[in-house]
Amino acid sequence: MTTNHQRLNQWVGEIVALCKPLNVHWCDGSAEEYRWLTRLMVDTGTLIKLNESIRPNCFLARSDPADTARVEDRTYICSEKESDAGPTNHWEAPGKMRARLKELFAGCMQGRTLYVIPYSMGPVDSPIAKIGVQITDSPYVVCSMQIMTRVGRRVLEALGDNGEFVRGLHSVGYPLTDPKQPDIPWPCNATNKYICHFPETREILSYGSGYGGNALLGKKCHALRIASVQARDEGWLAEHMLILKVTPPRGQPHYLAAAFPSACGKTNLAMLIPTLPHWKVEVIGDDIAWMKFGPDGRLYAINPEAGFFGVAPGTSDETNFNAMRALDANCIFTNCAATPGGDVWWDGMTRRPPAHLVDWLRRPWTPESGRPAAHPNARFTAPAWQCPVIAAEWQDPRGVPISAILFGGRRATTVPLACEAPSWSYGTFLGTFVSSEKTAAATGTIGDLRFDPFAMLPFCGYHMGDYFAHWLKIGREHDAAKLPRIYLVNWFRKSADGRFLWPGFGDNSRVLKWIVDRIEGRADAVDTPIGHVPTAESLDLNGLEVTPEDLRELLRCDAPAWLREIPAIRKHYEKFGDRLPPELNRELDALESRLKQAASA
Ligand code: OXD
Ligand code: MN
Repeated sequence: MTTNHQRLNQWVGEIVALCKPLNVHWCDGSAEEYRWLTRLMVDTGTLIKLNESIRPNCFLARSDPADTARVEDRTYICSEKESDAGPTNHWEAPGKMRARLKELFAGCMQGRTLYVIPYSMGPVDSPIAKIGVQITDSPYVVCSMQIMTRVGRRVLEALGDNGEFVRGLHSVGYPLTDPKQPDIPWPCNATNKYICHFPETREILSYGSGYGGNALLGKKCHALRIASVQARDEGWLAEHMLILKVTPPRGQPHYLAAAFPSACGKTNLAMLIPTLPHWKVEVIGDDIAWMKFGPDGRLYAINPEAGFFGVAPGTSDETNFNAMRALDANCIFTNCAATPGGDVWWDGMTRRPPAHLVDWLRRPWTPESGRPAAHPNARFTAPAWQCPVIAAEWQDPRGVPISAILFGGRRATTVPLACEAPSWSYGTFLGTFVSSEKTAAATGTIGDLRFDPFAMLPFCGYHMGDYFAHWLKIGREHDAAKLPRIYLVNWFRKSADGRFLWPGFGDNSRVLKWIVDRIEGRADAVDTPIGHVPTAESLDLNGLEVTPEDLRELLRCDAPAWLREIPAIRKHYEKFGDRLPPELNRELDALESRLKQAASA
């Protein structure tokens, strides 16, 4: 495959000269290429082919134990000015980081093939999509990128002779300097990893890890960290949000986007099976949303990805039937356990674990072993189209019009089941202090709050104070009547004795229904100091056993508990210094005085 794109050819030439690979391969994204690379990885022991009659065209990879997750402490935003990276990112001067990386990348692909992956984040013909080119020496990354993005010839065609693209250079950092040196199943650099972003030049340099978000550069590096900067510059939004379609019985569909910190059940919400009869929920995306304003003034979203890179442990027919069906074929599993019959297994996949397994560290495992069989961050990489509830329009190049945006975290106390923001700016304010508790606060003390604003803490590619300002500016510059409504939700509230008050999963459709009814002007709410909270009668609880006391607690605006959190929110805000938009402090003061009034009433 060739291209007349001079800048691309020149860059590839420079990287070849620097990294000194044995071969160069331009990826065409074809099924033959996938077959060739998976066969190659089976030969080197990187992949195990699963039993074809159980899981056709599926593979298991087991990583080096030193390479199992995103490495946030080695992740850098190398903006020209340190102040532009802000207090939530690690920063290094671009010149200094480039010099350090140049040394590491010099000769790092010896004995290996350099793969050039032209990929599109989003449907190739979408005006919201963007193109990237990743250079990597990992065939595992090539195959994973084939599942997670659109790869190959049609992307090069869309790029033309002079199109813009994000440059991503990735190496596992394990050269084979001696031609007789055999490769190992999971090459990486166990002690020296760097995941670096250069926002001004839209570049990513990733060294030393072959795993997930460190190595599949389209996902967190491009679609969130670099894209958030592009979105700020160009007036749109690149967000850590799922996108779902909810259709009432005989009604019109609504599209919702939702931001939750990692490990709060985003994939489960995106694919839920409603317990409400005749309601339908379908998925557009489970992790990232790119949203731009359409000619009609509404906000349209695409899922820039083409696959699901989900956490396997805890996923089962009971917790997420639709995700399980997406895993029936054509997947790569990483750090799961292997069954004697040639299948994969992870903790929570079935009620009864198999009697014998080989765990992710290749050791014999039985239920008595007393340790997890899969790594807690074990993953599946699955094509999105395989999900039985993928919405027909998931690849619509125009995107889908968003009616509501949800923010949520894991909160045992304080935050009610749902709360509607009366305006975009107040909704933005709610997004700035999305949080989860490190410890449950069942004893009445406040748990240690971990703030994860907009669920973007590890993913915002610039100063988070400027990011808040960007959200507020979007609100000022667009027609309020056409902007999505904003909601805070919390499925995780507990009773004083530590019981979950809400069943979650499919019953979250009841909250989605309340949101749709609010948008359509049908549902009641109480005006509380924190926003509009559902009345008990406005929630459809048909068929659900929830006591009136539990419901009251779920929907209660606990003014004293909120007041106890205000100092923590103020402290959180202090981090952003003079880049914190003053409106947010004004909103916080106003909230505090409303709460004080309510608490003393
Ligand atoms: C993810 C994450 O992997 O948010 O999606 O950590
Ligand atoms: Mn995520």
